[in-house]
Amino acid sequence: MAIPEKFIQDLVDRSDIVDVVSGYVRLSKRSGANLFGLCPFHSEKTPSFSVSPDKQIYHCFGCGKGGGVIGFIMEIENLSYPEAVAFLARRAGMQMPEETDSAEGRKRSRMLALNKEAARWFYSQLSAPAGRGAVAYIQRRGISPAMVKNFGLGAAPDSWEGLRDAMREKGFTENELFDAGLVKRGKNGGFYDAFRNRLMFPVIDVRGNVIGFSGRILGDGEPKYLNSPETLTFNKSRNLFAMNLAKKSKSGYIILSEGNIDVVSLHQAGFDSAVASLGTSLTPEQARLISRYTSEVIIAYDSDGAGLKASQRAIGILEKLDIKVRVLRMEGAKDPDEFIKTKGPEAFRKLLEGSENQMDYRLRAIREKYDLNVTEQKSDYLREAVDLLSRLPDEVRRQVYAMDLARELGLPPDVIVNDVERRRKRVVNSAYREVQKQQARPEKLLQPTARELHYDDPASAAAEEGLIRLLYLEPALIGTPGLPPPEDFSAPGLGRIYGVLRKRIEAGQHISTDHLAGELSGDELGLLVSILQKPEQLSRSRQSISDYISKIEERKQLRDGGTDLMALREQLKKKKGYEG
Ligand code: CTP
Ligand code: MN
Repeated sequence: MAIPEKFIQDLVDRSDIVDVVSGYVRLSKRSGANLFGLCPFHSEKTPSFSVSPDKQIYHCFGCGKGGGVIGFIMEIENLSYPEAVAFLARRAGMQMPEETDSAEGRKRSRMLALNKEAARWFYSQLSAPAGRGAVAYIQRRGISPAMVKNFGLGAAPDSWEGLRDAMREKGFTENELFDAGLVKRGKNGGFYDAFRNRLMFPVIDVRGNVIGFSGRILGDGEPKYLNSPETLTFNKSRNLFAMNLAKKSKSGYIILSEGNIDVVSLHQAGFDSAVASLGTSLTPEQARLISRYTSEVIIAYDSDGAGLKASQRAIGILEKLDIKVRVLRMEGAKDPDEFIKTKGPEAFRKLLEGSENQMDYRLRAIREKYDLNVTEQKSDYLREAVDLLSRLPDEVRRQVYAMDLARELGLPPDVIVNDVERRRKRVVNSAYREVQKQQARPEKLLQPTARELHYDDPASAAAEEGLIRLLYLEPALIGTPGLPPPEDFSAPGLGRIYGVLRKRIEAGQHISTDHLAGELSGDELGLLVSILQKPEQLSRSRQSISDYISKIEERKQLRDGGTDLMALREQLKKKKGYEG
């Protein structure tokens, strides 16, 4: 069942974290031991993501993510612990040990099988009387039979138990249906179909698995769409609708739209690289997925205010990954579906060819603020434009734009290029300084970045962190008498980290972040890494550990209330006297 520790150790030894991370993040060397880059887990313009080749860990000061090489792969590839191990093993050319199929992995493949059967059943309903409503709706929206097939569209009939009974006949249990989000639990404890009377869009990942569903109401009404809940297989923020099809396109770019219907319409009109985010605005994970297949994205969001805002957000996220972004301006239509229906595919093709480059668009916005015939305003324009260009991560693009700018203003190109590069250095350096400042502030206890891990009792949490850090660095301290039980910790997250750490040390197991990644949540792992970054004087570890223990006990008693404070003080004094 469990993967042997020895195997994990070998795997980690053969998977240098710098190599692995470099496959996803452009890292650059700074003064000091660490490498820095733009964090792949949250959106940022200046690097707060660091990798330590010595410690073989990564940590982002911005979003709090952190861990070893296995944790990194779990996070970025959205994999479970055993899957991440298998992923790295493949990369390192190592044969996975037998029998490492986890319970979760089995559950997941059952769910995928169920989803596939459900998609088949929804599709089959289109040719049954129960699917008439959906068929009529498909025709009304002008969706061709070829597209119905291409996307595997289907019908959820207007019934409470159609899918449930069909899947039970195929051998799936109600609990499995429930976990997959296909049925809901009624008041009387029975289960009923979650999707009823809807046009069904299966959501298929890039490996071809049906991971979930999106169901549109047949006509007007609320809610317009019903999506699968987050399940073992479905994670909205990491997947894109139709990416399984778009990845095969030869067009060289991805068209990003908002709606499922828009995507179907676009594919039908021959634009086979259209995808949609699943009812969320584009996330960094989705952008990363896109960046695996293309370096150019054309945004075709709805032309209303919300769409415009969403475009701006998406641009920031995509450019961070060095993806070239263009934005479509669909005048006279609210979305790509309407545009194609009213003006035809040719008009859309023209729009695609003329779509404006995002940098040009922003430069134009700045330029329009100034009168370039007035010298002073010209230099203001120059300053603002240089600042904008300095934020482009790609060096070649910075230079190309700088040269254009020089030409426009009649200035020597070298001067402007140097200006931009100087400004770039300043932008990047101030980001590093900010990071360093944060690192050098150990005395101030920072709240964990993940909100669920918030410290309610910072005084106790500081000691709890200290205890964790000491045990990690000096596991022999596990023999210290009077170690508190994890329940005495004020912060449940720290209690969990401590509990896992203790258990592993006591069992003589490895405690590197790579071994812990299987037992801690991503947030907890990130917290542990940030705790390990704070300094600890090991020369006085015995004193420190007893201070931490006293503090944790003292705070615990205070929190529990009803304790005689004087007695508590006495007790602590005695203890100090005894040990000191
Ligand atoms: N969406 C959702 N839940 C809603 C509304 C929308 O999840 N209540 C998601 C769906 O994935 C939808 C996308 O957001 O496809 C865009 O919404 P919208 O433009 O309203 O849907 P379209 O698919 O474009 O449908 P239509 O053309 O009929 O408006
Ligand atoms: Mn729409």
